Amino acid sequence: MAHDPYQILAHPFSLEGYAVIITGAGGAIGGATAHVLAQAGANVVVSDLNLENAEKVAAAVQKATGRETLAVRTDVTSETEQQALVDATLKKFGKITALINNVGWGEYTPLWDVSMDYMMKSYLLNTVSAYNLSKLCMPHLKKQENASITISGSAVGSTPSPEFISYSNAKAALLHMSKSIAMLSGPEVRCNAIVIGSVDNGEATLKAGYDEAMLKRLADAFVLKRRGTPFDIAYAFNYLLSPAAAWVTGIHLHVDGGGSYKSKMPTAD
Ligand SMILES: NC(=O)c1ccc[n+]([C@@H]2O[C@H](COP(=O)([O-])OP(=O)(O)OC[C@H]3O[C@@H](n4cnc5c(N)ncnc54)[C@H](O)[C@@H]3O)[C@@H](O)[C@H]2O)c1
Repeated sequence: MAHDPYQILAHPFSLEGYAVIITGAGGAIGGATAHVLAQAGANVVVSDLNLENAEKVAAAVQKATGRETLAVRTDVTSETEQQALVDATLKKFGKITALINNVGWGEYTPLWDVSMDYMMKSYLLNTVSAYNLSKLCMPHLKKQENASITISGSAVGSTPSPEFISYSNAKAALLHMSKSIAMLSGPEVRCNAIVIGSVDNGEATLKAGYDEAMLKRLADAFVLKRRGTPFDIAYAFNYLLSPAAAWVTGIHLHVDGGGSYKSKMPTAD
């Protein structure tokens, strides 16, 4: 039954009774999110291209929280595998309360140095996959109270980023799409995005073209003087899925240590 928005909720961030699909949940942010959402009461579907990592996360989450989990190997660029993910979720939990489109990847791709084929692959992985999985989940989400889709956006998708042209274009499109989904999916389903700043995900950022000295300079430029942890992002997902955010749709929530704020006055150094 829908909660009365004039009554204070006893547990505003509780996800009790939710069944949540998280893509890319074998990785840093998705894995931490699976833990945090399960701790808040959700049953979680841990989906990843890498089944071994998905199974590890699912087992650890179940052990730590006592919640039900399901590990599914999914390549989100395949429509057939996306459908299999939806079917497996419905078979195990009988519903989908929330979808977190979290898969994403991008590396150093300077402007004018990228093939058409690579641009298309990046768009398929980062944007089209989220479009299609959202489409497949929508009829099931519409049946649930406070249902939502949440997207892992990126700071490079909200500012010009010519060093990451394929990834930043794809993430910009993804952020734009989240608002379009929000417009037509209400009032039943909310859709929001988190604009994620630089988060420590181990090797993955180094593979994307950064080195430790660059990451130190990046952290020093943030207002809060450190890169994020996967949990910094996971808590934001918890909020956006929860009853506390029942009146929140179509937003881009920046979680970036103040990385998007730079002084307008140039300094000597
Ligand atoms: N870490 C950061 O600094 C940062 C910053 C901004 C945005 N993001 C975004 O946050 C999300 C999660 O990033 P992360 O740091 O946890 O990365 P990560 O590399 O740790 O995890 C990504 C996961 O996605 C999986 N994956 C890759 N291709 C896939 C496919 N085709 N199908 C299914 N799964 C696939 C990988 O196996 C991996 O487990 C991504 O969308 C990323 O673009 C991350």
